[in-house]
Amino acid sequence: MIFSCGPKGSEIQESERGNNEPHRPQYHFTPTDNWMNDPNGMVYLDGEYHLFYQYYPDSTVWGPMHWGHAISTDLVHWEHLPVAIEPDSLGYIFSGSAVIDHDNTSGLGTKENPAMVAIYTYHDPVGEKEKRIDFQTQGIAYSTDKGRTWTKYAANPVLKNPGIKDFRDPKVSWVEREDGSGKWVMSLAVLDRISFYSSPNLLDWTLESSFNPDWAAYGGVWECPDLFQLKASDGTEKWVLFVSINPGGPNGGSATQYFIGDFDGKNFSAEHEDVKWLDFGADNYAGVTWSNVPEQDGRKLFIGWMSNWDYAQVVPTHPWRSATTLPRSLELVKSGDGFLVASRPAAELQALRKSTIEITEKSIALEEELVELELTPTVGSNFEIELSNEKGEKVIFKKSDDNLVFDRTASGLVDFEARFAKIHTAPLNGLEVKSLKIYIDRSSVEIFVNDGEMVMTELVFPTEPYSRLKLTSFENPGSMHYLKSIW
Ligand code: FRU
Repeated sequence: MIFSCGPKGSEIQESERGNNEPHRPQYHFTPTDNWMNDPNGMVYLDGEYHLFYQYYPDSTVWGPMHWGHAISTDLVHWEHLPVAIEPDSLGYIFSGSAVIDHDNTSGLGTKENPAMVAIYTYHDPVGEKEKRIDFQTQGIAYSTDKGRTWTKYAANPVLKNPGIKDFRDPKVSWVEREDGSGKWVMSLAVLDRISFYSSPNLLDWTLESSFNPDWAAYGGVWECPDLFQLKASDGTEKWVLFVSINPGGPNGGSATQYFIGDFDGKNFSAEHEDVKWLDFGADNYAGVTWSNVPEQDGRKLFIGWMSNWDYAQVVPTHPWRSATTLPRSLELVKSGDGFLVASRPAAELQALRKSTIEITEKSIALEEELVELELTPTVGSNFEIELSNEKGEKVIFKKSDDNLVFDRTASGLVDFEARFAKIHTAPLNGLEVKSLKIYIDRSSVEIFVNDGEMVMTELVFPTEPYSRLKLTSFENPGSMHYLKSIW
């Protein structure tokens, strides 16, 4: 990572620090210091992937939210830039999105130099304290120098609060009509539904509809929606709606459910009536997709916050808290009579590989801590994978009949919060496990089943690196790669 102009408090020998800090992720994005949660405003422009994020530069716990900022040319190595958007008299800067206003519909840039426009939620702490219910509104900031400097729109907020306490996390995209005309569409989390607003210019918004089918998951507040089109390899295209929910995830606390169906420019309708989860691990929340990725790339790129509100503020890391998940490419995949959304590790991650080993033993001494496993389970059989260290700390991942099970109860530091040391299960519902890709970093394990058809993203905090890999019931296990650190 490059820290030429990092956020407050980061003028230290950064690469040495990153290597030496216990539990510091070695190939996931982290803030140099202090608190991070949701990824925000992900947008691609002129060769740079921008990643903004919920950031509190003064503490390692949640506080007045800013948008931190980093850029990458390969989704793996990140350069930290100064804080992009700071709180003002309208409130803290909560989650939101960013677009490139190519046609200058907003008048905030020019056609020759279109503005990068960030649309975010203002959260007014004074209104909240006074127990008003209208303290979340939507505001805009814009940049005409590739996200390096930002100006708040003078007439903020652009969307006032109609009297609903939870009214946040605008995700905006340009939706084209058949006749070639188009409009901006905003998906907004409104308590326990997603409302869709439209606008010709990013400044004036009209409510079109709301989506809250009675069969969806409602264990907690709905947050961080994302509405986008997704293609299957046979060319089938569907609309997908992501909705993060907290609490109420399949393994406790925060998680992301999604819906597949159609959006006609006004209404979203789902074509199924079962709850679909993007990730069955406990640690993938508030993730959304990148906007403005060039069409010839054709990918829907995603990144999530790798934590869970159940314990995010007390995880044993210092002097930062939280990381993002690995970048993933989403794809629509046929499943039974319908479809599912597969999450695949972005191809760019292959550049991290530094050596490859064919696995011939069932118990292997790991010489390094950063590992990518590519395993082929024996068709139809249960299996077990154990990662352990000399201290007896271990993680177990297994297939137990029709379930996948991830056990982190003895994974290392676990007692910082009672809800962390849990066994997580993912129902296979008859899905045959044909392949596994597993990424091990200093404080996480990410498991991709069948090229991303099922995913488990899990934090772990071993007090020393896992140094042994034990495989049970694998006939021809596969291979593993040792990975480079980005520090
Ligand atoms: C999701 C969330 C968002 C909100 C932000 C505040 O994790 O609660 O709904 O905008 O975090 O930091």
